[in-house]
Amino acid sequence: MSNESTSVSPITYVQDQHLALVGLNSAPVNALSKAVRVGIIESVEKALSDDKVKAIVLHSHLPLFSAGADISEFSGGDLSPMLPEVLEVIEQSTKPVIAIVGGNAFGGGLELALSCHYRITHAKNKVGLPEVHLGILPGAGGTQRLPRLTDPKTALDMIVSGAPTPVTALGNVFDLIVDTADELQSAAMSFANEVVEKLMPVKRVCDIDLEMSSDIETLFAQYSQGVAAKSKGFFAPGQCVLAVKAAFTHDFKAGLAREAELFMECMTTSQARAQQHFFFAERAASHVQGISRDVKARDIKQAAVIGAGTMGGGIAMNFANAGIPVIMLELQQAALDKGLALIRRNYENSAKKGKLTSEQVEQRMLLLTGTTSYADLSDADLVIEAVFEKMSVKKEVFSMLDKVCKPGAILASNTSTLDLNEIAASISRPQDVIGLHFFSPANVMKLLEIVRGEKTSDEVIKTAMKLAKTIRKVGVLVGVCFGFVGNRMIEPYGREANRLMLEGATPEQVDRVIGKFGLPMGPFTMGDMAGLDIGYFVRESRREFIAHDPSYCIVADKLVAQGRVGLKVGKGAYLYEHGSRHPIPDPDVIEMAKQEAKRLGIEQREISDQEILERCIYPLINEGADILKEGIAAKSSDIDVIYVYGYGFPVFRGGPMQFADEIGLKQIRERMNHYKETLGEYGQHWFTPSPLLNELADAGKTFASVK
Ligand code: NAI
Repeated sequence: MSNESTSVSPITYVQDQHLALVGLNSAPVNALSKAVRVGIIESVEKALSDDKVKAIVLHSHLPLFSAGADISEFSGGDLSPMLPEVLEVIEQSTKPVIAIVGGNAFGGGLELALSCHYRITHAKNKVGLPEVHLGILPGAGGTQRLPRLTDPKTALDMIVSGAPTPVTALGNVFDLIVDTADELQSAAMSFANEVVEKLMPVKRVCDIDLEMSSDIETLFAQYSQGVAAKSKGFFAPGQCVLAVKAAFTHDFKAGLAREAELFMECMTTSQARAQQHFFFAERAASHVQGISRDVKARDIKQAAVIGAGTMGGGIAMNFANAGIPVIMLELQQAALDKGLALIRRNYENSAKKGKLTSEQVEQRMLLLTGTTSYADLSDADLVIEAVFEKMSVKKEVFSMLDKVCKPGAILASNTSTLDLNEIAASISRPQDVIGLHFFSPANVMKLLEIVRGEKTSDEVIKTAMKLAKTIRKVGVLVGVCFGFVGNRMIEPYGREANRLMLEGATPEQVDRVIGKFGLPMGPFTMGDMAGLDIGYFVRESRREFIAHDPSYCIVADKLVAQGRVGLKVGKGAYLYEHGSRHPIPDPDVIEMAKQEAKRLGIEQREISDQEILERCIYPLINEGADILKEGIAAKSSDIDVIYVYGYGFPVFRGGPMQFADEIGLKQIRERMNHYKETLGEYGQHWFTPSPLLNELADAGKTFASVK
C-alpha cells in the first residue's frame, strides 16, 4: 500500500497511492506550534511537487484533531510562519486537501480544517472557536470562513459564545458526517479516493461570495445589542460581532485584513492579558508543588455528609451528580427528611427547566441515602462535616467519626472560620483531616477551597485535588487561617463598604460602583442576599479583633438588632417588595448612618466613585499580599482563581492580584498610603501597606513574580 514514509516531526507524511496523508502528531493536544506550522507547510509543498500525489489528506494521530494555537507562544518570539500564512498555503493548494476531523477541533484547529477544501467528521463530534474566552477573536480567518459555510446566526453564536458546538448543527461546514467515530477512517479514505477518481474540484471557502441583506443587517444590529447586555464589561464579544459582519461587507481578502485589525485591538487590551492570565491560573491551580508524583490518590467510592442543612444538602448533590453514592447523617429524623426533601425539590426544579430527565432525578435520588446512626458510616471513604459553625459541635462530630470510620477514610470539614488544626488535633488521625470549603449554593458554585492542615498527608491532599475534578469543581489548595483565602480577603472589602456609608456614601452608590467594576453585585446587595445575620455571627466571634475600631460595623450590627437581616425578611441594607429580589434604597438606613456618624464624630461628605472603588478593592488586595507572604496561598494566581470562581470577580480583570499587577503595585501602595494619611486614626490602622506590597513595589515587581 504505502510506498514511502518519512516523518517530519511533529507531522507525519505518508504517501498512499495517490494520496499524501499528513498527520498531526503533536501530543498532548496537537497545539499548532511553530514546529507544527512549519511541518504542515513542508508537507503540503512536498505533496504539490510530487506528481504521483493527487490529493492531500490532513488527519490527526491523537483522539482530538487540534486544540488550536499554542498559547505559550502568546508571549512572543520568532513565530513565523504564522497560522494565517499556513492556512493560505493549504487553501491555495492546487491539489484538493481533505481534513478528517476525527475529534474536537478548537480555535486554530477548526480554522485549520476550514482552510481545507473538504471536511469529514462523525456525528458525535464537537468543534468550537473559544478565542473569546481569552479576550480575543479567531484571528486565522475563522470569522471570515465560518460564515461562508453556515448561516450568520450560527457563526455568530459560535464565535461570540466560544462554546463547543455539535458538528451536526453547522450547516455545510462538513461535506460528510458519518454516524460513528468507528466508521470515520474507512469512510474518509473512500471519500478521498473518490475526490481523486472523479477529479473533484479544489473547493476553496475563500471563493464563496457573501452578500449583505436587510435581514442580515437587522440580525447584526440585534445581535450587537444582545451582546452589549449579556457580556457587560467584556470587550472581545463586540469585536467578534464586528469581525463576522465584515465577512458580509468586505471581500474575503479585505475581511481577513479587518479580522486582523480587530484581533490586534483585542490582543493589546488589559482584558486579553487578564483572560489569558486566568486561563493559565486555572490550570496552575491544580498543580500542587512539593507533592511527589509517586503519591497516589485514594479511591472515593462512597461518600458521607454530616448535616443536611444549607451546605450539607448541596455538597451531597455534587456526589450524586458525579455518580458517587453518598449517605447523609443528621441526629434527628425530621431534619434528615427535610434535607432530603429539599434535595429532591432541587432536582425536580432542574427537571422542570429541562436540565434533567425525571429518570435522572430518580437515579440521583437513589444514590442519596440518609441515616441517623454513625455506625452506617463505617464504609465511607470520605466524610464531609457540615454541621453548625461551633468548635465544640465540630469536635464532637470528629470524635464520633474517629470511632466509626475505617482506617484511611478522609475526614473533612466544611468550616468557613474555625481552626482546622484544632479539629484535627482532637482526634487520633490528624493526617486524614482536611478542609473542603464549599461555597453556597454548594451544588452550583465552582470553587472548592481545599484547606491543608499542619498534619494533612500528601495522599489526602492529592485525593482532594482529584476529587475536586471528579465533582466538577475548581479546587484550590490553601492554608489554615481565619476565613482562609476568600473570606479573609472579603472582610476588608465589607469593612470599607460599611465605613464608606458612615462617611456619606449610600449603599446604592457603593453597589453601583462595584457593579460597574464588574462584580455581579455590590457588597450591600450581597450582604442582604446572604443574610446580614451571617456576617453578624462571624463578627461576634471576632469582637476582640475589631474592638479597637468597631465603627465600621455599627450600622450593620444595628440593622441585625432591628431584625433587618436581609432579603429573607424583606429588609436589610435595602427594602424588598414581597417576592421580589430587587433592592430598593431605604432612606431610614441612610438616616441611621448619618446619626451614627454624628455620634462618632465622623463628618459626612461627598465621596467620589474612584475613592469607593479604591477603598473597597485595594485593602482586599493588600490582604491578599499578606496571604501570599504567609504562604496561605501558594501563588497569586490561586487567589485570582478563588476570587473569580467564588466571588464573581470579573474574569476580564483576571482576579484581584492580576488587577493589581496590571495597575502597578507602586500605584496601589501610593493609594493605600494616601488613605492612610487622609483618614485619620482609621486610615492609620487599616491602610498600612502589606510588607510584601512594599517589597514588590520597591523592586518594581508584580505579585505574579512571587513563586
Ligand atoms: P445549617 O444550619 O443550614 O445546617 C447545619 C445542619 O447540621 C443542620 O441541619 C443541623 O441539624 C445539622 N447538625 C447540627 N449539629 C449536628 C450534629 N452534631 N450531627 C449531625 N448534624 C448536625 O448550616 P450551614 O449553613 O449548612 O453551615 C454548615 C457549615 O458549613 C458551617 O460550618 C458553616 O460555617 C459552613 N459553611 C456555610 C456556608 C454558607 O453559606 N451557609 C458557606 C461555606 C461554609
